[in-house]
Amino acid sequence: MRIDILTVLPQLLESPFNDSIMKRAKEKGQVEIHLHNIRSYSTHRQKSVDDYQYGGGAGMVMTIQPIADCIEKLKSERDYDEIVYMTPDGSLLDQATCNEMSLMKNIIILAGHYKGVDQRVRDIFITREISIGSYVLSGGELGAAVLTDAIVRLLPGVLNDETSALTDSFQDGLLAPPIYTRPENYNGHIVPDVLLSGHPIKIEEWRNEQSYALTKKRRPDLLS
Ligand code: ADE
Repeated sequence: MRIDILTVLPQLLESPFNDSIMKRAKEKGQVEIHLHNIRSYSTHRQKSVDDYQYGGGAGMVMTIQPIADCIEKLKSERDYDEIVYMTPDGSLLDQATCNEMSLMKNIIILAGHYKGVDQRVRDIFITREISIGSYVLSGGELGAAVLTDAIVRLLPGVLNDETSALTDSFQDGLLAPPIYTRPENYNGHIVPDVLLSGHPIKIEEWRNEQSYALTKKRRPDLLS
């Protein structure tokens, strides 16, 4: 899979993609991540990428020219399955969206800044708008990092234990059950007996009950 991320702050995205699972996925050729500095596409003499809002109002707006030129260049080089804009007014990111997008070949992610992008960028180029939560970040970069991470870990062979993405929270519509490792007893806080029973069916039942109870308590919206 290839992911092209357009941003005015590429340096913000360097460290999330250069460690651990993401780093390994890149090294193994399972994903290519390309960062594009929107400013370098600006034809403005001072390389500016934003301007005042028509109609007045606080906050600068990202101009269409550098974003359009960058997207047009990428589109002339290959076909894209999706051109995503990270924005607090997009659809809320969920596991189903990540699963769907992990099957794509090439995607572009546009990280907005300031007040956001000129509406015409959205009208002309954007095929999907995604929010990572009902709060406003100072830019789309962290959202782009969250989306990229959530997709890349689903690509075949990226996780060491092939089954581990399947048992994540949300993968079956429920939160994941509690997990334990050694020691069995930590200052009187003990591991539930069933997990030490060696009885796979009982363990599976316990995990399902725990998942259901936890989901009912914390995320009843997932059950309806
Ligand atoms: N940009 C600013 N806030 C955001 C959010 N909540 N999700 C995605 N992109 C954003």
